[in-house]
Amino acid sequence: MAGRKIAVVGLGGIGGVAAACLSLSPENDVTVCARRQIDKLTFDHHEDSISIPLKTLSDPGLAEPVDWVVLCTKAQDVASAAPWLENLCTPQTTVAVLQNGIAHEERVAPHANGATVLPAIVYYNGERLAPDHVRLRHIRGHDLLVPAGPQAEAFAALFEGTPIDVGRSEDFLTYQWRKLLVNVIANPITALTRQRLGVFQRSDIQDLSLSILREAVAVGRADGAQLRDNEAEAILETFLAYPPEAGTSMYFDCLAGRPLEIEALNGAVVTAGRRHGLPTPLNSAMLTLLKTVSDANAKTP
Ligand SMILES: NC(=O)c1ccc[n+]([C@@H]2O[C@H](COP(=O)([O-])OP(=O)(O)OC[C@H]3O[C@@H](n4cnc5c(N)ncnc54)[C@H](OP(=O)(O)O)[C@@H]3O)[C@@H](O)[C@H]2O)c1
Repeated sequence: MAGRKIAVVGLGGIGGVAAACLSLSPENDVTVCARRQIDKLTFDHHEDSISIPLKTLSDPGLAEPVDWVVLCTKAQDVASAAPWLENLCTPQTTVAVLQNGIAHEERVAPHANGATVLPAIVYYNGERLAPDHVRLRHIRGHDLLVPAGPQAEAFAALFEGTPIDVGRSEDFLTYQWRKLLVNVIANPITALTRQRLGVFQRSDIQDLSLSILREAVAVGRADGAQLRDNEAEAILETFLAYPPEAGTSMYFDCLAGRPLEIEALNGAVVTAGRRHGLPTPLNSAMLTLLKTVSDANAKTP
């Protein structure tokens, strides 16, 4: 008998995989909150492909309070998902935010009716092959990482017996910044050049990346992240080992003419830099250029 009421908001790559995996546990009662009705989801993992029935709501007015919300929209769509959060959340609810960036609580708490906000770093690759078809790829280590504590244990229990492995960290902020550091070069540079990760083989792009990273590392340290002296070089080196044919979500969003998640990435560095009185001219340049692209995309029907 399913005892835990869970709403997954946003059925993209990440939300689709989360909804599929959560539905595999008989203890979870999962409802998907999406902009269109989808009654079953095909879930690919390793060599397997299974069909999972879904309970979907497409009208926030019909949503009722739940124990858990798993919020999987892009960061810029939190405001548009507010009607879902307002109806799903009470002070007893926990909202796990599966998004890139660092300011999850600031972004979500104002819409969440006093619910607890649990930020999560997403390490898995969730690909939406069709509106009703997703694929999970494990990248390395944990699939999700949350700050250690009682909420983390309860969150990890939701995924017990499923393919998703939830890690807990006592130093979540440092991991959040490390993930942000990868994102502040990978996403804007692939989006602006309209080239996949192979573009990082160019030495001029590597020089630019190191300068963007060094700026961001200084801000991350001021923010309390335990970043190493050679953090920028180490991030770039790890990153160069990624497959050159891989794209990034901002690259694909740019090609598809969709709004971009730039405020949550380079925008987060610029905001934190301002807070600590540190200059961030390169991250500001990325932010301004891609905000301009994003605003134009948002206006195009
Ligand atoms: N995909 C990955 O492998 C990956 C890896 C690491 C981190 N992340 C991060 O995870 C987050 C989610 O990424 P994603 O790749 O899953 O994005 P995505 O594929 O664009 O999915 C976002 C989903 O949210 C839905 N949505 C937006 N506004 C909504 C609203 N008001 N009500 C209901 N649904 C709404 C969208 O609906 P429509 O389909 O109707 O537009 C879409 O299905 C992002 O912060 C991303 O940076 C992703």
